[in-house]
Amino acid sequence: TQISQHASVFPAHVVLLCFPLSVPPVIYKVSEDFTVNEGSNVTLTCLANGRPDPSITWRLLNPSAEALDVGEYLEISGIVRSQAGRYECKASNDVSTPDVKYVNVVVNYPPYIKEVRSSETPVGQAGVLHCEASAVPQPEYEWYRDERRLSSSQSVSIQISGSRTLLVVANVTEDDYGNYTCVATNRLGVHNASVFLYKPGTGRDINASCCVCQSFWLLLLSVLSVLLKC
Ligand SMILES: *[C@@H]1O[C@H](CO)[C@@H](O)[C@H](O)[C@H]1NC(C)=O
Ligand SMILES: *[C@@H]1O[C@H](CO)[C@@H](O)[C@H](O)[C@H]1NC(C)=O
Ligand SMILES: *[C@@H]1O[C@H](CO)[C@@H](O)[C@H](O)[C@H]1NC(C)=O
Ligand SMILES: *[C@@H]1O[C@H](CO)[C@@H](O)[C@H](O)[C@H]1NC(C)=O
Ligand SMILES: *[C@@H]1O[C@H](CO)[C@@H](O)[C@H](O)[C@H]1NC(C)=O
Repeated sequence: TQISQHASVFPAHVVLLCFPLSVPPVIYKVSEDFTVNEGSNVTLTCLANGRPDPSITWRLLNPSAEALDVGEYLEISGIVRSQAGRYECKASNDVSTPDVKYVNVVVNYPPYIKEVRSSETPVGQAGVLHCEASAVPQPEYEWYRDERRLSSSQSVSIQISGSRTLLVVANVTEDDYGNYTCVATNRLGVHNASVFLYKPGTGRDINASCCVCQSFWLLLLSVLSVLLKC
């Protein structure tokens, strides 16, 4: 009991003297994971104790883990999609191993259709049109035939897996050839692209009449030139 009494009456400066001069770094506050829209200004925070004062360094781990600014606050003005990912904050001093914490940053952006694949399919077979968008969050997809919205039925099925959608025409008829539109939407925007179902042999041109005409005139010309030479 005597010892505890002594402890309670120790003056503050004695406690300070006993405080070690070297304290390993400890991060006591770091930003929570968060989601922002592309273009936002963001600040990541990482506060640490230690003796001597730890230095704070930041890295974005994916893809290259290059070093970013040094300091407790990492400011990013007008954040872009490539700056999304896992940020590492490291507090180091010479005392012991650094303390490390992470902040995951999600950057929302509107859809952008990056790939479409048209199809050349004979009558009676299944035609598959591809459409792939990049967007965060994941987009909703719609398919249109000209202006008419398509929904899954006996004749067409709309498949969606991740960032890709397929329109499968189960049994292609003459009427199915033509222009389809893939539309990708999320809450930041919408993007569309044309995809075609071609009849084989039309040389990726739905209306082959121009080519037929051209070869007809070429043929006529060559016949005429032969006739004129005679
Ligand atoms: C972001 O910061 C810049 C200055 O760094 C400022 O001009 C701009 O208005 C800010 N944007 C937003 C959305 O706050
Ligand atoms: C495709 O449609 C044609 C005409 O309607 C039909 O004769 C044929 O059996 C169908 N083929 C398949 C695989 O469903
Ligand atoms: C295909 O359809 C879309 C939407 O209806 C239209 O904007 C586009 O011009 C069409 N493309 C062709 C080649 O007809
Ligand atoms: C595709 O985008 C164009 C231009 O933004 C728009 O005029 C057209 O209506 C869109 N088509 C569909 C089917 O949403
Ligand atoms: C092809 O062209 C003809 C006449 O030039 C036209 O009547 C027909 O609608 C066209 N077909 C398509 C699929 O555009």
